[in-house]
Amino acid sequence: MQNEWIQPILDEAKAKGLERTARVYPEAGGVIKIDGQEVLNFSSNDYLDLGRHPHVVDRAREALDHYGIGATASRLVTGTLPIHEELEARLAREKGYESALVFGSGYMANAGTIPVLAGRDDLIFADKLVHASMIDACKLSGAKLVRWAHNDARALQTRLEQSAGTPGRKLIITESVFSMDGDIAPLKEIAALAEKHGAMLMVDEAHATGTFGKNGSGLVRELGIENAVTVSMGTMSKAMAGYGGFIACSNNLRQLLVGSSRAFIYTTAPPPAVIGAALGALDVFEASPRLGSILQANADYFRSMLHEAGLDTLQSQSQIIPIVIGDNEKAVAISQKLRDQGIICAAIRPPTVPPGSARLRISITLAHLVDELERAAKLIIAAVKN
Ligand SMILES: Cc1ncc(COP(=O)(O)O)c(C=O)c1O
Repeated sequence: MQNEWIQPILDEAKAKGLERTARVYPEAGGVIKIDGQEVLNFSSNDYLDLGRHPHVVDRAREALDHYGIGATASRLVTGTLPIHEELEARLAREKGYESALVFGSGYMANAGTIPVLAGRDDLIFADKLVHASMIDACKLSGAKLVRWAHNDARALQTRLEQSAGTPGRKLIITESVFSMDGDIAPLKEIAALAEKHGAMLMVDEAHATGTFGKNGSGLVRELGIENAVTVSMGTMSKAMAGYGGFIACSNNLRQLLVGSSRAFIYTTAPPPAVIGAALGALDVFEASPRLGSILQANADYFRSMLHEAGLDTLQSQSQIIPIVIGDNEKAVAISQKLRDQGIICAAIRPPTVPPGSARLRISITLAHLVDELERAAKLIIAAVKN
């Protein structure tokens, strides 16, 4: 069977407190019943609690009834349905771009876009903490990867100056809201540097879509820097509550991607119900434009309770609030203790976060009322401090 090499790797991960399991939860959502006990889920990325929103579910169901389960083929064969084009037109409008292109997931949007923007003869400048999907995409591209210190525009400037005169295209990549630290990139400064140095800029708005900006359009549009941002990437899997990814870009970049993005071409088009749900989420963003600011106010309140108790939340300024524990096993033990007390708050360990920075990653969502936030904050504070 030739699989004797596997067990030692698993044993080593376990010894380092890095064993990973996909635990089964009986339900999806912000409040889950487990063995008759109501548990508050602070690890959900369904930030606006739209997973069971009647309108979102209706739009998914309508698409399912109309088109059936699958799209039948790749987008370039018979997989492009009117509903895909409807969603792309809507996303382009919401994001303030000429065009948009939908991918099977956010991971695929990054993996399918970055290798088209940059190749073997080019340079990619990546913030030190960008998501694994962007790093994998950089590796796929074959471009030379230059890392710059997290959220440090001066460090990026130095890197760009060091590479002045280097032939080839230059691409800067960052997130707007960082997935594990919940802090926000200095996007205006980065955009100015991109323009000054003739570099493309791609911003991953996975955690800013729906949660920041008018109608949840994200930070790129909110800051009015669309002209300097070549690609604004987002997912339908977080505040949009479903699944899938997309980018917003110019018409001609979209056309180039349609003809050459491997993660777009060599896979089946996303299923109609998922696209319907995304349209439903965009309808809700438009009909309830204050959802994002209510979410951020709740996150501010939650952070203030932690700060009052003397806990550090790094530079978090969003619905993602980290509490760094450091030791892997300790982080898991605290998470388990909270789980026993009815709070799901996953421990995030390396390699998802840098070594030595295992943490509780708290996701604030609109599934929780203020008294639930207060109860959770008290339990989290006690679990971390004891
Ligand atoms: C910053 C960031 N980019 C991309 C992704 C990938 O998105 P998806 O879950 O839709 O594949 C994630 C989610 O894990 C993320 O946090």
